[in-house]
Amino acid sequence: MYRDRKIALIIAAAGSGTRLGYSLPKQFIKMEGLGDMSPLQKSILTAGLVDEIDEIVVVTNSEYVELTHEQIAEKANAHSSSDTKSEDDERTQSSDNDYVLDKFQIAANNEKRGKNIAVIEGGDSRQESTSRGIGFALRDKPEKYLVLIHDAARPNASPDLYRRVIKETFEKGAVVPAIRVKDTIRDVKFGSLNREDLRAVQTPQGFAGEVIMSAVKNAEEKCFVGTDDASLVDFMGLPVHTVLGSESNVKITNPEDLSKTVCVGSGYDVHAFAENRKLILGGVEIPFEKGLLGHSDADVLTHALMDAILGAMGEGDIGLLFPDTNADYEGISSIELLRRVSTLMEKKFYTLENADITVICQAPKIRPYIDDMKKNLEGVLVPRNGINIKGTTTERLGFEGRGEGIAASATVLLSKPSWK
Ligand code: CTP
Ligand code: MG
Repeated sequence: MYRDRKIALIIAAAGSGTRLGYSLPKQFIKMEGLGDMSPLQKSILTAGLVDEIDEIVVVTNSEYVELTHEQIAEKANAHSSSDTKSEDDERTQSSDNDYVLDKFQIAANNEKRGKNIAVIEGGDSRQESTSRGIGFALRDKPEKYLVLIHDAARPNASPDLYRRVIKETFEKGAVVPAIRVKDTIRDVKFGSLNREDLRAVQTPQGFAGEVIMSAVKNAEEKCFVGTDDASLVDFMGLPVHTVLGSESNVKITNPEDLSKTVCVGSGYDVHAFAENRKLILGGVEIPFEKGLLGHSDADVLTHALMDAILGAMGEGDIGLLFPDTNADYEGISSIELLRRVSTLMEKKFYTLENADITVICQAPKIRPYIDDMKKNLEGVLVPRNGINIKGTTTERLGFEGRGEGIAASATVLLSKPSWK
């Protein structure tokens, strides 16, 4: 019925991932278990395997337009290393839920087939975002297109699932993938519903261009808000057909939908006491007869913490990142350096779970300043389970015991969300 049409895929990626609780929206977080790709990258690369798809429209959050372009471009960078692979290597698939994607191979695949990828800004709700995507993809030619709409939050939609949806959309004009529900669903007003008649609906959903275009207009006119695109077609009174979805096509919504990769790191630093220097620990100036000597503000506690974080990320140490031969770092606040480390953590999608820091000195007593130090550090790093700081003496033994300097050691646990 709709066989001669082109196919545009709209990827909804303009959400903020509030329920998952990371500062970066879930669709951009690179994950172990997704081949170190983000759900958005994985979605785009999978679409590259589906020959029927002619163009892709990524609807993104206005704040993340640049990151979206960056993540799309990453596959292009990978292109050159894949030139020697044959087309047959590109996909090994024995069933719908058992296929292997290779970032490098798929990159080549996507480019080779010349699928155009556009990036546009979404809206405050999913419905607004997909409406914009539909408007952009169809412009004035809805009857020439079929539209597929997919959530970037479902990175595991397989090429076969896409093909099932496309095949049925060619015939029926409005199709959703759906799976049986395992729980009994209860309508709180009317009681239990017959489970045999219920399905959990997924994406990609497929529509004839004019069907979804008029459904969107109708919903707008009547101020109808649905939970997916098919519900707008339902609201218009047109039939929506189902095809078999996939149990592995999970939508990432809550923290329980993902697992975590954790990395431990340790740091240790020493600075000598010197006259006419301020004593700064954890960003707090402590009144004392001497301060610590160093190129920066010599905040030994913050240095040990930064080294622990860099160690956990496999990023070397602070000497590598902030060399003391660089005049820019002369007298710089270590809290400012910690901010830069925190930016690097965010870039690499790490979160601080907790940190435990020990400051080793004979004097001064650091206990009265611990709360302020914690405030400074936690203000920058926003740990999930806090930062613990404690002081100890060495019973007058060693350089700390003789009052020649202060040592600090830190242990941290970092985490990164990963696909289950
Ligand atoms: N989405 C969108 N525009 C919005 C809101 C959501 O494009 N204004 C997209 C999301 O990026 C996601 C899909 O719609 O791919 C499903 O939405 P959901 O799982 O609710 O994601 P978020 O809205 O990002 O998450 P949360 O509701 O927890 O903030
Ligand atoms: Mg949402």
